[in-house]
Amino acid sequence: MSEWWKSGVVYQIYPRSFCDTSGDGVGDLAGIRSKLDHLVWLGVDAVWVSPFYRSPMKDFGYDVSDYCDVDPLFGSLADFDALLEDCHARGLRVLVDWVPNHTSDRHPWFEESRRSRESAKRDWYVWRDGSPDRPPNNWRAAFSPDPAWTWDETTRQWYLHLFLAEQPDLNWRHPEVVGAMHDTLRFWLDRGVDGFRMDVIHCIGKDPALPDAPAEVAAIPWCALNDHPETHALLRDIRGVLEGYEGERVMVGEVYLLDTAQVASYYGTGDELHLSFNFPPLYAPWEAGAWRERIDQTERELRPRDAWPTWVLSNHDNPRHRTRYGSEARARAAAVLLLTLRGTPFLYAGEELGLEDAVVAEGRRVDPGGRDGCRAPIPWDGTPRRGWKGAEPWLPWPPEREARNAETLGADPGSILHLYRRLLHARRQSPALQVGSWEALDAPDDVLAYGRREGGDRRVVLVSMADTDRGVPLDGDWSIEVASDGAGEGGPYEGRIGPDQGLVLRP
Ligand code: NOJ
Repeated sequence: MSEWWKSGVVYQIYPRSFCDTSGDGVGDLAGIRSKLDHLVWLGVDAVWVSPFYRSPMKDFGYDVSDYCDVDPLFGSLADFDALLEDCHARGLRVLVDWVPNHTSDRHPWFEESRRSRESAKRDWYVWRDGSPDRPPNNWRAAFSPDPAWTWDETTRQWYLHLFLAEQPDLNWRHPEVVGAMHDTLRFWLDRGVDGFRMDVIHCIGKDPALPDAPAEVAAIPWCALNDHPETHALLRDIRGVLEGYEGERVMVGEVYLLDTAQVASYYGTGDELHLSFNFPPLYAPWEAGAWRERIDQTERELRPRDAWPTWVLSNHDNPRHRTRYGSEARARAAAVLLLTLRGTPFLYAGEELGLEDAVVAEGRRVDPGGRDGCRAPIPWDGTPRRGWKGAEPWLPWPPEREARNAETLGADPGSILHLYRRLLHARRQSPALQVGSWEALDAPDDVLAYGRREGGDRRVVLVSMADTDRGVPLDGDWSIEVASDGAGEGGPYEGRIGPDQGLVLRP
């Protein structure tokens, strides 16, 4: 087994925002296909494509009305097959997003379920009795102060939705739901996908009593509730579906729990998720102490279980780290960190361009969760349309749109784009960086320092979150393989690191 998902780097594509070829202002599958050279040149190993299924787009694709088809906005199944084939021909693996906790309220399953209390699919969703003025428990829905329950006047019952009212929760206690959802996995596995990113996977098993929760949990049940034992049994069965296929088909879970010990449990004993997101680092400020704590926590919780970590700084749900950390120097140093810690890095399209979130005027905001800024379209060149076919994309461009695009930065060897490429190539050539051990090294409080080792291959990584220069003496002679600002690359390491700088050192 190559275990490519341990050594590789995954690149997340939010299809609406990647590249539009149809001219409607929304990115599409053909747009992704047209940019594969960029990904190969950059040096990533796999792409994860956020949902492109048929959807009313209330949550921009995370409200699925047909798991086994492509929304016409993005193209067709033939476009998907062509994309998959082109990716595989270039050595890129493809993970698709799977949304098992809820469907769209326009999914035929829910339409049938809500028709009557006697419907054959009534119990495919979570219905409860009650009176119209009193929801069955105190849980709140995401993105709103409203209950996680909606009253259905026709059948006079409540249905559960941890997210929008248009995203009713499936009832995973029902064997037919389990079977139908396994079939949706098989649909994409049969087409040849390399695995899935599984949306809020920790939420699928629920305490059937659906009891009230403490206030802090009830406010964000999708993030705080759960860790219900049933979920683990369901995950083992899902893993079984993937294991029935040739090759290494991978489950990457979005376990949106901010407790790394809980996250670790979703790896099971190697029989549940292959990889799980671990979000506490994504919320770490630019402070070495905060990062040190989260790295230690990850090593402490995951290593004993033989659970392989993941690292992520940006995605389609949170402000980009370039925006959070406030400068390109920090975004560059953060890239050094992301690509050299022990675990699988997940990049979010556009971070290699150092993109900031777009400023979205009130009249153009479209996301109920307020996440428009990080979903701004990717600028591919310096022309007025930035390489997009349509005149006006669905969201405004990110800042610095004249200069900050793939073409302009690609022509500048000193750009952040070239830094990502150098880091990815250094990683690819170093077993220590890909799969090696990790060990903290002595350094000033505001500098992270660690060693990576695999057999005879060694690297030392320094990331400074300090305002001024720091001395970091090391035993032996080291040379600078990659510097976040390019300074001194190929030359000897002189025992000092600059403010907000990241260095990869080799013996
Ligand atoms: C997590 C996804 O990342 C987010 O975009 C979505 O809104 C929720 N799950 C609901 O599917």
